[in-house]
Amino acid sequence: MQTALTTRMLSADASAAREAALCLADGGLVAFPTETVYGLGADATNAAAIARLYEAKGRPLFNPLISHVDGLASAHRIARFDATAITLAQAFWPGPLTLVLPRREGCEVADLATAGLETIAIRVPAHPVANAILTAFGKPVVAPSANLSGHVSPTTAAHVESDLAGRIDLIIDGGPVAVGVESTIVGCFERPMLLRPGGLAREEIERVLGRPLARPAPEAENDDSQPLAPGMLTSHYAPRARVRLNAQTVAPGEALLAFGPARLPGQDQAARVLNLSERADPAEAATRLFGYLRSLDATGARTIAAMPIPMDGLGEAINDRLRRAAAGRD
Ligand code: TXA
Ligand code: MG
Repeated sequence: MQTALTTRMLSADASAAREAALCLADGGLVAFPTETVYGLGADATNAAAIARLYEAKGRPLFNPLISHVDGLASAHRIARFDATAITLAQAFWPGPLTLVLPRREGCEVADLATAGLETIAIRVPAHPVANAILTAFGKPVVAPSANLSGHVSPTTAAHVESDLAGRIDLIIDGGPVAVGVESTIVGCFERPMLLRPGGLAREEIERVLGRPLARPAPEAENDDSQPLAPGMLTSHYAPRARVRLNAQTVAPGEALLAFGPARLPGQDQAARVLNLSERADPAEAATRLFGYLRSLDATGARTIAAMPIPMDGLGEAINDRLRRAAAGRD
């Protein structure tokens, strides 16, 4: 454990981006907003800074990080793009899409960031604060979600503070994020493959590609010793409370994560009810998902009952995160 740091909090403006860049250049750890979730940034070329980042999050060293850059030109310096990768980057960057690509020879990103893999995950975020920091810093920034490893990802600066105060140098507060779930990860392999559903709906990617994305074999997805996107451990995004999926009724004292206009039998006896989207809009639900899981957890209820959510659009990512929140805790 590192000794407790004083974690500064700054609200996002031009001088905050400069402060953030200086702190990164000094090997510091800076949390900042992206459009998906808050990230915890470190200089991607500085192995010592990355080691501190893994330690601050309690993250296993085999789980590689996403390198964030300010645009396609910077991405070309660290990875090799084939035609599909260029198509996807041009269609969706900046935005909630991470591409896994072959590492370029001489790539300046530290091996520790890619956990020794031959591939590198890259993303160009669509958030003015993230972009201002990346431009001011001028080098790739690794940024996992700014939560303790295994916890729910942060969608506000207050979430970051509650997980990481005393463990990181600086938090830039840019208000609540717009998307609410992490980026979609596509592996640009022989056939492009959906490694993690996320803030960009599969349907949009498939429309641009003109064909379906490959899916990892189910064994690969569930093999926690050798996961394809190594961070996709089955039990992840876990609140303290047990999460019960596909709830059709509510037991007394349970907290309810509702979706849509329907009311469930027993709902009146719930410890607390939060509705992800009264109008059953998966994009609205995504923006609220992690914050509501935190709030329902804070009631102290033993179980969070989650209503079913359709798989279309961002519903795929929401169901993925809920499944992981529910895994391994019966
Ligand atoms: O929206 C996001 O992607 C956020 C914001 C902050 O940008 N970041 C984020 O990072 O979600 P993190 O570290 O929580 O998740 C990164 C995922 C992990 O599952 C990791 O295993 C996977 O990306 N990953 C990184 N490099 C990879 C690689 N070379 N091959 C396959 N998966 C990789
Ligand atoms: Mg994460």
